[in-house]
Amino acid sequence: MAETILKAEHMFKEFGATKAVTDVTIELRQGTVLGLVGENGSGKSTLSSMIAGVYPPTKGQMTYMGAAYKPGSVLEARKAGIQYLTQEQGTIDGMTVAENMFLGEEDSFGKGGMVNMRRLIARAKEILNENGLAHVDPSQPIEKYSFEDRKMIETARSLSKQPDILIIDETTTALSKKGVERIYEIIAEQKAKGTAILIISHDLSEVQHLCDEVMILRDGVFIDLLHGDDINPDNMRQKMIGREFEGSYYRADFECTHGDEVVLSAKHLTVDGAFRDISFDLHKGEILGFGGLSDCGMHEVLKTVFGAIKPTHGSVTLTEGGIKIHNTTTSVKHKIAYIPKDRDKESLFQPTSIKDNIVASSLDKIRKWIYISPRAERKMANEQAKIMEVKMQSVMQMAKDLSGGNKQKVVIAKWLANDSRIFIMDCPTRGIDVGVKAKIYRLMEDFKKQGISVLMVSEEMMELIGMADRIITMKDGRQTGEFMRSESLSEADIIQKII
Ligand SMILES: Nc1ncnc2c1ncn2[C@@H]1O[C@H](COP(=O)(O)OP(=O)(O)OP(=O)(O)O)[C@@H](O)[C@H]1O
Ligand SMILES: [Mg+2]
Repeated sequence: MAETILKAEHMFKEFGATKAVTDVTIELRQGTVLGLVGENGSGKSTLSSMIAGVYPPTKGQMTYMGAAYKPGSVLEARKAGIQYLTQEQGTIDGMTVAENMFLGEEDSFGKGGMVNMRRLIARAKEILNENGLAHVDPSQPIEKYSFEDRKMIETARSLSKQPDILIIDETTTALSKKGVERIYEIIAEQKAKGTAILIISHDLSEVQHLCDEVMILRDGVFIDLLHGDDINPDNMRQKMIGREFEGSYYRADFECTHGDEVVLSAKHLTVDGAFRDISFDLHKGEILGFGGLSDCGMHEVLKTVFGAIKPTHGSVTLTEGGIKIHNTTTSVKHKIAYIPKDRDKESLFQPTSIKDNIVASSLDKIRKWIYISPRAERKMANEQAKIMEVKMQSVMQMAKDLSGGNKQKVVIAKWLANDSRIFIMDCPTRGIDVGVKAKIYRLMEDFKKQGISVLMVSEEMMELIGMADRIITMKDGRQTGEFMRSESLSEADIIQKII
């Protein structure tokens, strides 16, 4: 067996009354890829955070290269050779790309407190070039770059000095196909170099494909360590949720079922630089899916339909009343909901409670004249949080303290609360564990039955095929095909139209 690099034994972490990790022992070995899986809130990020020096354990010991290891900070862990790619944005606004890349290591670029910025920028440029990020200017503010570029800058930084341990927390779900492939390449390269790798992911086929062994956590407790053929999606799913997974995952029918009535119509929509001449009708009770690569323009199409981007040409019209959508105030007023892909940044208000986040878009529903009863607010928040199975102490807890996937659920709960008639969903199950994923699919089916329409974008072909009545494919900003729901529709049919 490969040599152990780090051992964390009998680890515990409590946040107030929350027992996030309870008595978990984990070993990271040379050239070995260990997967860490479990439902949202099962303690995966907490366990990795302790190894990466984010905070100390409540109890437990760690040994690194045979010596006792007690990192006082993330920087200390990094200096020791442990790199952590976090689930959320790991770079800091208000600083340049180069400053972000060498945060805490500026000393190595100067003497006596003076940092040689020229050398710092030159070194940053070198690292960026080596990592396929030649288009990034290290002297620019980091905010100038997209979420994906920032993640890749963070990744490049983590590899600028050869690490002994690399921890990758839910990074692939937020990236385009190209970004994901780059991460897979890095994993293969690092494995060959003998780095110990820890991967956290909700994509169980990805885990099966990448990992040598897989640890299952449930409610902060160790459940099993899997090897070989035991590492398969069915087995992992069952161990994660503690029971057989019942019923179908996607829709069981293969008919294209929806009303004839058109509820929304997009005509010749164009946004310069993003997409051209997109037209479609959305029917009552229809799930209309858009499929393509992440940069094909489909995310921008959804934003434009919601009124968050102003089209260069074309229009979006609601059949009822002939309302034209020009901005988000109009769309929300006419009962359109929008669940963005990047939920942390675009629609979760982190410094306030779960309750405030959930009721934010529905205050009209519980308002009596000018009064809003705190009880009604709490009731609504509790109901919605229950539907989405948000793992929390209470709805009064701060949103920022939730696990990554539970934050995502709160955003969905917020929109579900407001009685919308059209749901625009951008990658609705991103970062969400398998159990609740199935629940979102059942909700979408309920919507259909109630005559509510769904416009959805997904990067998972199986999700589109499994749920949509109709799929429109896009490539390089253009509509390339349309498929009606059918039993014979395959992933290959769609892929052919998108790459
Ligand atoms: N800073 C914090 N304060 C309070 N509670 C926290 C804090 N960080 C995490 N928790 C709680 O600890 C538990 C475990 O969270 P953790 O982030 O480790 O889950 P996870 O397995 O990474 O889930 P996900 O798949 O959703 O990312 C959750 O109940 C979460 O709400
Ligand atoms: Mg997490």
